[in-house]
Parts: sequence; C-alpha cells; structure tokens
Amino acid sequence: MTANTWRSKPIAQDVGYPDQEALRHVLEKLETLPGLVTPVEIERLRSQLATVAEGQAFLLQCGDCAELFSYCNPNQIEAKVKITLLMSLIIIYGARLPVVRVGRFAGQYAKPRSKPTEVVELPDGSKKEVLSFRGDNVNGLGVDERTPDPRRLLMAYFHAAATLNYVRGCLSSGMADLHAPHSWNFQHVQDKELQQQYARIMDAITDALDFMKTVGADPSGPNQVLNTVDYFSSHEGLMLEYEQALTHDTPQGTYDLSAHTVWIGDRTRQLDGAHVEFFKQIRNPVGVKVGPSMSPTELVAMLDALNPSLEKGRVTLISRYGAGKIADLLPAHIQAVQSSRHTGTVVWCCDPMHGNTIASPSNPKVKTRMFSDVVAELTKAMEIHASMNSRLGGVHLELTGDDGVTECIGGSMELSDEDLARRYLTHCDPRLNYEQSLDIAFIISQVLRSQRLGTNEGAHLVQALSQP
Ligand code: PEP
Ligand code: CO
Repeated sequence: MTANTWRSKPIAQDVGYPDQEALRHVLEKLETLPGLVTPVEIERLRSQLATVAEGQAFLLQCGDCAELFSYCNPNQIEAKVKITLLMSLIIIYGARLPVVRVGRFAGQYAKPRSKPTEVVELPDGSKKEVLSFRGDNVNGLGVDERTPDPRRLLMAYFHAAATLNYVRGCLSSGMADLHAPHSWNFQHVQDKELQQQYARIMDAITDALDFMKTVGADPSGPNQVLNTVDYFSSHEGLMLEYEQALTHDTPQGTYDLSAHTVWIGDRTRQLDGAHVEFFKQIRNPVGVKVGPSMSPTELVAMLDALNPSLEKGRVTLISRYGAGKIADLLPAHIQAVQSSRHTGTVVWCCDPMHGNTIASPSNPKVKTRMFSDVVAELTKAMEIHASMNSRLGGVHLELTGDDGVTECIGGSMELSDEDLARRYLTHCDPRLNYEQSLDIAFIISQVLRSQRLGTNEGAHLVQALSQP
C-alpha cells in the first residue's frame, strides 16, 4: 500500500459520497486491477520531457475539457488520434524538433467546479437547484443523476482501458490518411493568401515525405516513425481516491498507473493541500496549472515540493493567464524560476484556453472563446520566453477532432457568434474544432520556423489569424 499522507490534508474539490460502503468496495476492486499504463512507459515519457526541458523537443498536450464515457467509440477516438498526429506533423516540419504527444484522454473524466450546485430548468419549465455535474466519473449530466456514485470510478477505469486499447491498436496498425497529406484540402480557409500558404506548407511536407521514401527511409513504412508514434495519456489528477487506488509500489519507485502523466488543476494546487501531497509521492512526470493567482515565490515553493532532486522534465508548468494578463504575469514567473535552483529543469507549456473563457456575446449562458485571444496568448508566450532567454516547450489545448463542432469564435473558417448554435456539443469548456486546431499547429510551426531561421515568415499567418 502506497503512502496515504494526503488523507490528513485538506482536499479541495472533495466529493462527498453518501454511500461510503460502496466507495470502499469500488476502491478495493480498483486496487486489484492492473495499471492502465506501465512504469516503463512512464519512464519513457519522463525522459522525453527531459528533452523538452532542454529545448530538444516540443510538447503537444491536447484533448477534451471533459471526456464523457460516451466518447469511448471508434469514431471519436480515431478523430482525436488523427488530429493530434496531423498537428504534430505540421509542428515537426516547422520546428524541426520531435513532438511529444500527450492526450487529455482515457481518464479526463473529473471536473473541478467553481460552484457546488447549479439551478437547472426542468421540462415543465420549473427551476431546481441540483449538485453541479462533476464529470462522468462522479455523477451524471441528467438532473436525477447528480448524486455522486462511486461505481462511476470503476466505469471510468474500464472506459479508460478500452480507449487506451483502441488508441494503441490504431497506432500499431498505422493511420492511413496521415500518409497522404496531399489529399487534405483547405476549402474552409476564408483568407485566400492564408489558404495558399497552408497549401504550400502541406506540399512541402508531402515532398519531404516522398523524398524520404525515395531514399529508402519511408517514415510511414512498417515499424517506422509515423507508424510507431508514442501517444501518452494524461488527465487532471483530481479524484485522489481513484489515483491512489491505481498507484503501485515497484522496486523502481511509486507510480500512478492511471495515466502516463497527471496534472494539478489551478483550483487544487494549495501547497499544504492533499493534491500536492499526493503528487509528491509519485514518480510520474507531473503538470501544474499556473494561473494569475500564483505568486512567483509560491511557484518556486511548488517546484521545491514536487521536484526536490531537480530532475529535468519532472514538472511541466502549464501557464493559463488570459491574453490580457500574460504580459504582466509570465515574466515574473520565468524570472523566479531562472533565479532559483530549478532553472533549466522545467517544461514551460502554454494553455491559451482557460484564461480566455467568455460568455457568448448573444447568449450569456453559452461559454465560448475567441480564437484571436487563444492566438494572442500563445504567440505572446512564445515571444516572452524567447525575449527572456527561456523557451516555450509546449502547448496545452482543449480541442476535438469531431466533425463540424462550433464552440469557439473565429479561426481561418471565421466562425461567428451565430454559428455557435449549429453544433455546440461540449458539456464543459468550449473546444477548438478540427480546422481551428490545424490553424494553431500552423502558427506554432511557422513561428518556431521563423525563430529557427531568424526570418519573419510566420508574420502574415499570425496576423491573419489574430483578427477578432
Ligand atoms: C482544465 O484543464 O480543464 C481546467 C479545469 O483547467 P484549470 O485548472 O487551469 O482551470
Ligand atoms: Co477546461
């Protein structure tokens, strides 16, 4: 049995289960089940993140805000794998760096909430106050399913297992369309110059792949890089009972085998709280969300707590300030890390989503994000790091590869506020759709390429996509 010291600390966002006996049974069962990932895989991610910390690779962490059990089906899983692989191909091309792919999937079921209850409208028009939806592994979306049910933790395990199994199958069988990027079209791109620029980049990628094939280094051949890509799993380590039950002691150390990496959310990162205490004991690489309320001294204290032996890549700092705040807040955070003993050990990752959530201008009940804000926070992060002799090592995005989703405003397809009603599917935060996700990949690719070559090539693309 692994260390339980977190139990004596305050647990932010704790779930009160009315049926404690059922909870005990579920946890006992979870403790007997095999890990969803292995210590060897976790160590592989650790060493890959160490290369990100050294500036030798780029981290792409992305997926749903709240994964639902119903997303565990072949179409949605394939769509997620495909968009992640396409984005990484585009980034690799511009950055000339390997991309470390980490999905928010196979366990991203639990959500922190700002309010414990919400008022919902019933079919007869009356209003009722119910517990907030905390994610599929806690309670259900239906108004009569809001009581936390511990059996959902077991369902989470099995849905995560099925998801991971299918992802592993997809990757080991090769994902066909990834090898024919010339069949991609950019009809959705409204700005003609931008459309041509995308097409030119894709031609160049196709050309490079063809060239490699000709010289006998086909990257899409059997056992070659595009067919054996690593795709690691991650989620917010919010439900400590679940994480603890899947944590195993091995001769090499203590590993949380629920995912390759887990992160601490902005609402649960108290230094004297249960989440930080739990995260201290596991050998997995861990993420920490860094929001506007984090002070520079607190940030260094967090690194002291989570990485006392100064291992490179152990901690990924996922900054999420908002486009209007990043310029005031990020420099002091970078400075604090640079003047501490942790300098050079962390992965700096930009989450340009969570500080930029707004109400839709036409409907205050609908949450959305302006694509231009996402671009602004991301490009400012890249600029600020570059100007301080630091390095933005990665990006953390909420996105979906599913068809025709309309949750964020803007992007190369120029979605408007009115378009949101067409296919708004999220039950939590608004996600980038397929096309908007590719836009972000092109931006990262072009900015890193410009930085690498000392040119200004990415400027038009960034400018075109920054229009509100
Ligand atoms: C999230 O990543 O879904 C999330 C809730 O983020 P944060 O903790 O940064 O608000
Ligand atoms: Co979210």
